Amino acid sequence: SKSYEYILTSTPKPGVGQVTLNRPKALNALCTPLIKELNEALNDFNASDETSVIILTGSQKAFAAGADIKEMAPLTFSEAYTKAFIESWSLLTTQVKKPIIAAVSGHALGGGCELAMMCDLLYCTDTANFGQPEVKLGTIPGAGGSQRLTHAIGKSKAMELILTGKSFSGVEAEKWGLAARTFPTYDALMEETLKLAETIAGYSKVAVQACKEVVNKSQDLGLRDGVEFERRVFHSLFGSQDQKIGMKAFAEKKKPEWTHS
Ligand code: CAA
Repeated sequence: SKSYEYILTSTPKPGVGQVTLNRPKALNALCTPLIKELNEALNDFNASDETSVIILTGSQKAFAAGADIKEMAPLTFSEAYTKAFIESWSLLTTQVKKPIIAAVSGHALGGGCELAMMCDLLYCTDTANFGQPEVKLGTIPGAGGSQRLTHAIGKSKAMELILTGKSFSGVEAEKWGLAARTFPTYDALMEETLKLAETIAGYSKVAVQACKEVVNKSQDLGLRDGVEFERRVFHSLFGSQDQKIGMKAFAEKKKPEWTHS
């Protein structure tokens, strides 16, 4: 695999690609070159026939401590505007069709929290440290935090967190519905994230991609349009081989052998 400066890539199990943010000296602060590498690695996993699902993680101490404050500090309005600063961060929400699981331990602040929320599903440790502290720096969340946090936990809580910059724990993230599950230790987090990824990698890639697509559509569409969109995609899956294989295997009490087509 390629060698990067700020990230590591691996394939911990068949079908499972992993990107580990690896800029320990800055607690994985998300500088522009890091984001560039992240996008490249995610695009490679997305394009690979060997990959069904992607894990995005950091270290035990930090998922990511936010955008790189030192890089950002001198930016002018016109530079930020004309270079569309931060826009490339969301490529993972538009280009990657395979599910991305965020495994969050330690700090997930500002852009780190936002990056975790861009993923399709979030697992964390009980003591993970989430927050949108931008107000303390004289600015606001800039990578979707005000929108995704509000969608996930509701307006009142999101408003409180964003106006105060206060952190919240992994336990709270799970209680409020931002995290799917939380774990008492880092090892348990990584072990259970891998198990989840293996489960997903055991299904038809076609069905898995469609599951991701329809659930994410619910964030953008009203209920009526969303249900209609889902039904169209559901209908289209009758055109896949794996739907026939899956349902035949059920009737014959056998394990399906997916063709991923
Ligand atoms: N950008 C740049 N460098 C950062 C950083 C960041 N977001 N977060 C941490 N670092 C650097 C520190 O400057 C320090 O570097 P030096 O050793 O060269 O001084 C190193 O990482 C270790 O950090 P600390 O010594 O501060 O570690 P700590 O354990 O005492 O504190 C922390 C950890 C509470 C996370 C603290 O580092 C912190 O508050 N970081 C900033 C968090 C933040 O405000 N994030 C939001 C950024 S704005 C944003 O993200 C905008 C957006 O919406 C896109």
